[in-house]
Amino acid sequence: MSDVTLTIDGVQVTVPAGTNIVDAARQAGIAIPVFCYHPRLKPVGMCRMCLVQVGTPKIDPATRQPVLDANGQPVITMMPKLQTACTTPVSPGMVVKTTTEEVKFAQRGILEFLLTSHPLDCPVCDKGGECPLQNLTMGWGPAVSRFDYNDKVHFEKPVKLGDLIYLDRERCILCARCVRFQDEIADDPVLGFDNRGRNWMIISKSDPPFNSKFSGNTTDICPVGALTSSDFRFKARVWELQSKPVICTLCPVGCNLTFDMRHDRLMRVMPRENAAVNDIWICDKGRYGHRFIESPDRLTTPLVRRDGKLVPVSWDEALEVVADQLTIVRTRYGGNALAGLAGAQLSNEDLYLFQRLLRELGSENIDTGIGGPAALPPDEMGGLLAPGPETDLSKLGTGAVVLVVGADPEEEAPLYMLRLRGIAQRGGKLIVAGLRPTKLERSATTVVRYAPAGELAFAQGLLKAALENGAKLATLERMQGWHELRRSLSQAKLADFATACGLSEAVLTSIAQSFLTAEHSLIVYGWEARSAGLALVETLAALMILTGKVGKANNGMIALLAGGNSRGAIEMGVRPDAGPGYEPRKQRGLDANGIWAA
Ligand code: SF4
Ligand code: SF4
Ligand code: FES
Repeated sequence: MSDVTLTIDGVQVTVPAGTNIVDAARQAGIAIPVFCYHPRLKPVGMCRMCLVQVGTPKIDPATRQPVLDANGQPVITMMPKLQTACTTPVSPGMVVKTTTEEVKFAQRGILEFLLTSHPLDCPVCDKGGECPLQNLTMGWGPAVSRFDYNDKVHFEKPVKLGDLIYLDRERCILCARCVRFQDEIADDPVLGFDNRGRNWMIISKSDPPFNSKFSGNTTDICPVGALTSSDFRFKARVWELQSKPVICTLCPVGCNLTFDMRHDRLMRVMPRENAAVNDIWICDKGRYGHRFIESPDRLTTPLVRRDGKLVPVSWDEALEVVADQLTIVRTRYGGNALAGLAGAQLSNEDLYLFQRLLRELGSENIDTGIGGPAALPPDEMGGLLAPGPETDLSKLGTGAVVLVVGADPEEEAPLYMLRLRGIAQRGGKLIVAGLRPTKLERSATTVVRYAPAGELAFAQGLLKAALENGAKLATLERMQGWHELRRSLSQAKLADFATACGLSEAVLTSIAQSFLTAEHSLIVYGWEARSAGLALVETLAALMILTGKVGKANNGMIALLAGGNSRGAIEMGVRPDAGPGYEPRKQRGLDANGIWAA
């Protein structure tokens, strides 16, 4: 994209074409006040807070060249009225003025107008201290209001927009940030406007109300205290909080968070910006699902059973008891009588040391989780064929093809849903294949519904189509299990796979071709795909290898695993069949189900 040079308040700045004046001014170090504009949302020009004077070079109609003054400078024609900086794209030679009396008059007027019915209850408002309305009023607004307090319009407040979010209609400035977030980013268009004039208001349109897994983000981007969360209301003043950086372990995304603490008590959970992981968003599970850390039922000190009762002991005592018991069991029955289960939320360091302890004691009976009928074997392909370093889903768009197979990212890894949706919005191809409808399908460029039990035939059909259309077989020769896979491929025609998965040969061929020829090829697979059996994942892996781009940035396989650090557990060797780094063990130990059954 070409660059455009313009002048804002006398400062020359060069920005990519298409940039709006607000963002161009930011790059020049000039703040233009905004309410409705948000850099992650499409501009709508609703609040008029960003009004500025804009001029463009006068063009000679005969020569189509700028008209120059006596000093050889372009003659600037100022637009007769103020313009909204958030909706006006820059143009070459543009001149913008943000501090003239006319602009200041408009800014004061807009703020005075916004405050006509504002309750001014900052002392009891959760947003107080981090409120754009407070800040902009101090910076750009009138010092006093000419509006009689008794003339303010009052509404019932607060009203529950949903179980988690309250709306204070008196504070709402009707900027539509919340509505647009739900429409554009979360793809849950559950908020909207109702009524008109002074009664214009935000409402929830869904049943149950505010039905979205991302609702908490609206409280972050609401520029006033109109939206507050039931989790944080009246708990603390924001200037009392100390923010501690943490990583969410409630799903495999690993969103960056802060725990905002007051006197060592968790007051609220906020997103911590990381463009490569969660940008500025988190899901409601991550925001509201951490209260367990303060549960009175949580173990915070070691307990040892004495005389049939669990009694609190020091860590030294507890470790001594554990060491004694492990030694006794090993001496009497051998190391194989020991077993260990670790949580898949632990750090890599803890997981590595855990398996090492067990293996040093002579046990291979090591696993994560608690087993059960839904437990799946460790996933290897999502690690071995993981996208290369420098992968950044936030940048992918045109040229990328993402094949999502048997996964429901909204449930399994919520922020990935926003990321994958973003890739499609930026022009990438998003092919969503599965047995059941998922929300991600609404953002897909292609939706594939294969027949029940047809997932393996679908993947084999893609592989067959790829090979029939010139993909290089040699790249697969070194792949483990390739010869069996090749045999099953050679025993059937593409038409057979198409029939078995309920799709046409043309669909399989078109998906395979676009996947293989894409600049960036990604496969995302989830629980549904993994529970269909290892052969499906291996077939998808073969398709990935055929691209020849394994190990490169933005190319590879992403498995949506259940635990926050399941990948770390697999790589650190917390599994019965392999040690750290996928190193196979001579003897396979028991998995979680085997341990319980032993
Ligand atoms: S609730 Fe907040 S984000 Fe939504 S329209 Fe009102 S002020 Fe804007
Ligand atoms: S998407 Fe996953 S990692 Fe991110 S906040 Fe939600 S549960 Fe936590
Ligand atoms: S910020 Fe530009 S109109 Fe609201």
